[in-house]
Amino acid sequence: SRRRPPLADMKAVILVGGFGTRLRPLTLSVPKQMLPMGGVTMLQRVVEHLGGLGVEEVVLSLGYQPEVFLKEFPDGEIAGVPVRYAVEPEPLDTGGAIAFAARHAGIDSTFLALNGDVLTDLDVAELWAFHRSTGGAATIALTEVEDPSRYGVVPLAADGRVEAFIEKPEPGTAPTHWVNAGTYVLEPDVLDLVPDGARCSIEREVFPAMVAQRRLFGLQASAYWIDAGTPEAYLQAHLDMLDGLRGSFEPAVSDSARVDAGAMLKRSMVGAGATVAVGARVVDSVVMAGARISAGASITRSIIGARAVIGEGCELSELSVVGFDEDVPAGTVEAGGHFPPPTEWPA
Ligand code: GDD
Ligand code: MG
Repeated sequence: SRRRPPLADMKAVILVGGFGTRLRPLTLSVPKQMLPMGGVTMLQRVVEHLGGLGVEEVVLSLGYQPEVFLKEFPDGEIAGVPVRYAVEPEPLDTGGAIAFAARHAGIDSTFLALNGDVLTDLDVAELWAFHRSTGGAATIALTEVEDPSRYGVVPLAADGRVEAFIEKPEPGTAPTHWVNAGTYVLEPDVLDLVPDGARCSIEREVFPAMVAQRRLFGLQASAYWIDAGTPEAYLQAHLDMLDGLRGSFEPAVSDSARVDAGAMLKRSMVGAGATVAVGARVVDSVVMAGARISAGASITRSIIGARAVIGEGCELSELSVVGFDEDVPAGTVEAGGHFPPPTEWPA
């Protein structure tokens, strides 16, 4: 008989309800986890990874634009994994959202919770086994980063017990470069620390409370990890795939994209139905499905949203971000530009 997958019978709550403000204007059109990452959405990659470990059901914790998820995945499954939707009445923050989703799905045994904007090859089965061995109430996967100030910083004792949880410390003050990787194994009684229906941050409220109770553990991991929640990181996640850092083969240019023989394409993703015209140059960039790069345009280290049109001779560079369906007039030259500009974004 087939070997039982390590995480069979486990449910996973995935947080996908944030506003994704750092990825605007792209996230004015779709939530960040519904942005493409290569040929599929970020969320599909996360769920596929969990499905491969045997996770039996995924509970999506939805807040911002829930209808986009429901429309894209109407059959109650993603990448072959059964999915349930928990739509928050209002943003409950990370702790409130996990509790809301877990209660909604009737979770009453050890479960997983994940930030939905993280792409990683982390071994969740190993995390689960470590969790079992310590008898802790929660176990956090940790990853090592250059600049810990953007993350939840997590110093550990020798036995893996978490000594402190410091969310987004002032630059230069973090006691370690090991940070919260956004993957947790949780016992259901952790939910008792979250008041019903109230806003609550797992990072700022629940984890610090558990540190005081000495029930929180962490496990350091060296696997590939990236939080794709900023334009720079979102682009880097693509470049990492193109550079082969993720193992699996990723076609850089969709079969249905049309790239003119007189265009220059380097280390870039080009989505389905996109076109790149003669004399255009696309370097270290992401061009989403249906976008049009007109003749002579130059795109460097930038992100072009779905169906956007980049006019002739445009020069966009240094993390310029073009929103879905935007029209960038011919001859526009911008480094680090946003289309539309922040002054036109809704409050
Ligand atoms: N449902 C719901 N409701 N989801 C939410 C809410 C909410 O009110 N707020 C945020 N989320 C979701 C986001 O969509 C994202 O998938 C996840 O929760 C984490 O939120 P981010 O806004 O991406 O947090 P962060 O990247 O600044 O920091 C978090 O992730 C880091 C690792 O990537 C923290 O958990 C840090 O401690 C951690 O190091
Ligand atoms: Mg994030």
